[in-house]
Amino acid sequence: MYAVAIDGPAGAGKSTISRAVAQKIGFLYVDTGALYRAVAYDMLENEIDPADISAVCERLGSITVRFGYENGEQQIYLNGNNITGKIRTPQISAAASAVSAIREVRQFLFAQQQDIARENHIIMDGRDIGTVVLPNAQVKIYLTAAVEERARRRFAELQEKGIPADFNEVLADVKTRDENDMNRPVAPLRRAPDAVLVDTSCLDFDQSVQAVLSVIKEKIGQGIK
Ligand code: DC
Repeated sequence: MYAVAIDGPAGAGKSTISRAVAQKIGFLYVDTGALYRAVAYDMLENEIDPADISAVCERLGSITVRFGYENGEQQIYLNGNNITGKIRTPQISAAASAVSAIREVRQFLFAQQQDIARENHIIMDGRDIGTVVLPNAQVKIYLTAAVEERARRRFAELQEKGIPADFNEVLADVKTRDENDMNRPVAPLRRAPDAVLVDTSCLDFDQSVQAVLSVIKEKIGQGIK
C-alpha cells in the first residue's frame, strides 16, 4: 500500500489540498483531525472539561470513534452515530486542541489511523502523521505557509461567511494554535527529517495542488494513475 503523509500547521490548506490531490490520484483521503474533533465533541456533550486529563481519560473507556466512507467522503462515527456535520464549530476546534495534547487520547486514536493505512492507498493529513503515525510512509510532505498569510486566508474566509472579525485577533489565534501544536510534549507538530517542505504562501490553490502532486509523482510515480 502507498501512504502519503501530510503534516503542517492549522490554516495551511492541508485538508482542501489533500482532498483534491487524493481525488486526482484515486487514493483515500483521511482527515485525522476529525478523530480529535469527535473526542472533543463527546467531551463537550457530556460536560467534561477537555483539559481535565483524568476526566477525559475515564470517559474514553465508554466511547468508540470510527472512520467510514459514504460516496467517497469521509464520515466520522461516535458510538455508532454519524457526527460528521457537527464537528466544525470554533468550540470543537478549541476543545480538539485541548484533548489532542493528552497522551491517552492520542493512543486511543492511534490504531484506527494505522489500520486504514494498512488496507488502502491513502493521503492522510494531521500533525504527527510523518513523525509518529506512519513513519514509513513513502511520501511525506510538510505543508505550510507564512503565519500572516494563513491568518489572511482565515480572515477572508470569515468575511466571506459574514462573520465579523478583527484581523489582529485572527492572527493572534493562529499564532496561539501554532504555539500549542508545536510545543505540546506529546507528538508535537514537527517536520519529519525526510518530509518535503511545500510552502503555499505564494501559491494559489491550483498551484498548491500541483506542487503536492509533483512531490508524489517524484516519489511514487509508478504507483499512481
Ligand atoms: O486539523 P484540525 O484542525 O481538524 O485538527 C483538530 C485538532 O486536532 C488540532 O488542534 C490539532 C489536533 N490534531 C492532532 O493533534 N494530530 C493530528 N494528527 C490531527 C489533528
